[in-house]
Amino acid sequence: MSNVVILGAQWGDEGKGKMVDLLAERFDVVVRYQGGHNAGHTVFVGEQKYILTLVPSGILRGKLAIIGNGLVINPEELIRQIEMLEAAGVDVAGHLAVSNRAHVIFPFHRMVEKMSEGRKGRTAIGTTSRGIGPCYEDKVARRGIRMADLVDENALPELFRSLAEDKAILARAFGIEEKLNFDAILEEYIGYGRRLKPLVCDTTHLLAKLRREGKRILFEGAQGTMLDIDHGTYPFVTSSNATAGGVCTGAGFPPTAIDGVIGVSKAYSTRVGAGPFPSEAPEQEADRIRNAGGEFGTVTGRPRRCGWFDVPLIRYTAAINGFDSLAITKLDVLDHLEEIKVCTGYRLGGRVIEEMPATCREMEDIEPVYEVLPGWQTSTAGARAWSDLPEKARSYLRFLENRTGVEIGSVSVGAERNQTILVEGSRLTELIGGTRL
Ligand code: IMP
Repeated sequence: MSNVVILGAQWGDEGKGKMVDLLAERFDVVVRYQGGHNAGHTVFVGEQKYILTLVPSGILRGKLAIIGNGLVINPEELIRQIEMLEAAGVDVAGHLAVSNRAHVIFPFHRMVEKMSEGRKGRTAIGTTSRGIGPCYEDKVARRGIRMADLVDENALPELFRSLAEDKAILARAFGIEEKLNFDAILEEYIGYGRRLKPLVCDTTHLLAKLRREGKRILFEGAQGTMLDIDHGTYPFVTSSNATAGGVCTGAGFPPTAIDGVIGVSKAYSTRVGAGPFPSEAPEQEADRIRNAGGEFGTVTGRPRRCGWFDVPLIRYTAAINGFDSLAITKLDVLDHLEEIKVCTGYRLGGRVIEEMPATCREMEDIEPVYEVLPGWQTSTAGARAWSDLPEKARSYLRFLENRTGVEIGSVSVGAERNQTILVEGSRLTELIGGTRL
């Protein structure tokens, strides 16, 4: 098996960063296929902490990192990350490729986002305020500027002026005070284009070549399935396809070449930003999970909403992505609890439903049905094998596995690499080539 997708099975922040970092060692290439610098992956190499929001973290392990066409790129942020990596001794020039078809975020995208999030009478999504959505809007409206344009000094000024003029009209219409100096922005972006030009290429061809050479390719999703623009809790979603299908469109990679999909899920649930969250815990319960799990955003620092593992939700995200295996993270966060709730069904309009409703209105009306399992109240932080886990923790995991219908291939019990249990004989270990950490 060589080409594997790993992505979030919930609302993002499932602890993908650690799993991707762990798995990257077994792959030759790591690829991002959607989103932008709204994602934040925290990776430790020794004592050193890195927060990467655009560059696939596999680069820290000497792997080839690819930023696919499905991303929206803030070039200033990309350059900042490149400089941080270079300062840490990483050979970025030899290990990073950026798609010429990825779209470029400009300062006016943030302005548009502020406008739409702040407008009276409009429901705020609680975005990361990075200009992600408005940049995707321009992409779909067929007026966006791509990396191939950014690095073309002859073509950029005209494309930029046309787009900037659109935004100026919009700003005037909405009575926006904020003045943007378009000439200065153009100058700045010409500079970014010069700096990034050597890294920009046709990554679709590059991936096809790497595949022909038999290289092992890992695709890392950003955000999570429930934030997917098509399948998530619309409109409280991000603007890209975070699901496995996003790999095909966002990296130009054929579905027939994908060998497996791993879904990452916490042993409980969290969500940042607004929107439905059927298994959200009441404040006191949520506080206990939040404090034990350090549930504060990597990118925005916002406290995350916390709740219980949601079986119907995972069944839904498994159906969309075709998970071969689940990587369960942060089991240790539940160590201290006397009892643990699991949402096993949704009650809506007096009956228990199996399917995820399409509208937020119905989702807000869902009443979760809980089953309560006994806590193990023992530290799992030192467990290194399935058999090291307390009996009740194993029962909890088996319960999740049986109800979701997806095997659990790994269990994470702490932030360190070695605090990861790879389950022998699982499909996950088959996909990644063994249980060695
Ligand atoms: P946007 O991606 O900035 O447009 O934000 C849309 C929604 O997705 C908001 O609810 C954000 O909080 C959420 N979101 C975006 N990126 C992430 C992420 O990496 N983890 C978790 N939530 C995210």
